[in-house]
Amino acid sequence: MNDWTKSDWRAKPRVQMPDYTDQAALNAVEGQLSKYPPLVFAGEARRLKAHLGAAGRGDAFLLQGGDCAESFEQFSADSIRDTFKVMLQMAMVLTYGAKVPVIKLGRMAGQFAKPRSANTETVNGVELPSYRGDIINDLAFTPEARIPDPAKMLQAYTQAAATLNLLRAFSTGGFADMHMVHSWTLGFAEGNGAEKYREIATRIQDTIDFMAAAGIDADTTHEFSTVEFYTSHESLLLEYEEALTRLDSTSGKWLAGSGHMIWIGDRTRQPDGAHVQFASGVLNPIGLKCGPTMTSDDLKLLMAKLNPENEPGRLSLIARFGAGAVGEHLPRLINTVREEGANVTWVCDAMHGNTIKSSTGYKTRPFDSVLREVREFFGVHEAEGTVPGGVHFEMTGQDVTECTGGVRAVSDEDLSDRYHTACDPRLNASQSLELAFLVAEELSNLRSARAKARAAS
Ligand code: PEP
Ligand code: CO
Repeated sequence: MNDWTKSDWRAKPRVQMPDYTDQAALNAVEGQLSKYPPLVFAGEARRLKAHLGAAGRGDAFLLQGGDCAESFEQFSADSIRDTFKVMLQMAMVLTYGAKVPVIKLGRMAGQFAKPRSANTETVNGVELPSYRGDIINDLAFTPEARIPDPAKMLQAYTQAAATLNLLRAFSTGGFADMHMVHSWTLGFAEGNGAEKYREIATRIQDTIDFMAAAGIDADTTHEFSTVEFYTSHESLLLEYEEALTRLDSTSGKWLAGSGHMIWIGDRTRQPDGAHVQFASGVLNPIGLKCGPTMTSDDLKLLMAKLNPENEPGRLSLIARFGAGAVGEHLPRLINTVREEGANVTWVCDAMHGNTIKSSTGYKTRPFDSVLREVREFFGVHEAEGTVPGGVHFEMTGQDVTECTGGVRAVSDEDLSDRYHTACDPRLNASQSLELAFLVAEELSNLRSARAKARAAS
């Protein structure tokens, strides 16, 4: 680890990365980015790591969410605000269920590069290179648009910086105070079929009212008027990641300056590959996606490479098996972790194993499958006596129609109404909140089951 350098990944096999044709242009962009300020600081990444360590022990709970792919075209203050707001609302519901602090971690301010299942895409007999996210090429279906353009990294950096700036302003500037989030609870619980959430919503409301009556003023009490909000993205485009890597002068360690947490995707987690090599040497908390093809041996190697010092909070294992498949895969990986005595934080990504093609041709995710995967994740942890440390969702504060189902049932036919994602289908605001209630229910059931077991023993 000590002799790690930020460009070592270049000597390793790489997948899912573009072949830039204009080497001079690429070099110029990398040179420029490497002189720009990092987006985050080492102390923040360490703080997030400590929180994630707590989540691994059950003393905190992670809520990670945001776009599948951030887009240049849909970049706006409103969409950042709306996603931030829904995450705060979800966090409040989860806090209620978990009775521990909820860590808010956006898939934001850097989530631009996408791994794809195929290198090319064919439309009406025309075959073009796949779209790989706005930081690499363009969604438009023309040969020019699909050429990887290094200059897009500069635009992504600028957008990430502006996004983070607004998130930081919202987090401490008064937007996050409880007055701003409490009014929704009643409104939400009035929806059709939402009776089961009414009780939780009413209790949260009562608590807020009680605190206000007791003189705890949300405007002036620091804990209620500010929030810690962190950023994360898939560390896929390593030229961008390397160019933003900085030496932390206080620890002498390297920081990926592109975001607080970075994760390794299910398609780029080869133990000897470029992506693992890069992540192994930075001090940030690392996420590792674990899909059905993750073997025990690979997981052992990956844990040894990514967390050799077995530091709590360093490694989050983000399980994404798909509804119906959690029982087949999660117990064997939990067993591997147990055998190794490894500290990890288990997180449930209930999105990426549940993507299907709808009858109307849109890529979608049924809300029921998302929910079912969450329940299976909690069920396995309950049976194994291990800790469900968090959840990971693709979601937006906008009222889109990309995932089917939910209280305000979106049907296959509705998908075309407001289908705006640049990549995978996201939960809309109402579906996200509904899910938060369900996760809160799972958390609170688990708490009472464990309390009962403790009392009996
Ligand atoms: C993603 O998180 O957008 C993603 C591509 O996930 P995975 O690597 O788990 O498929
Ligand atoms: Co996705």
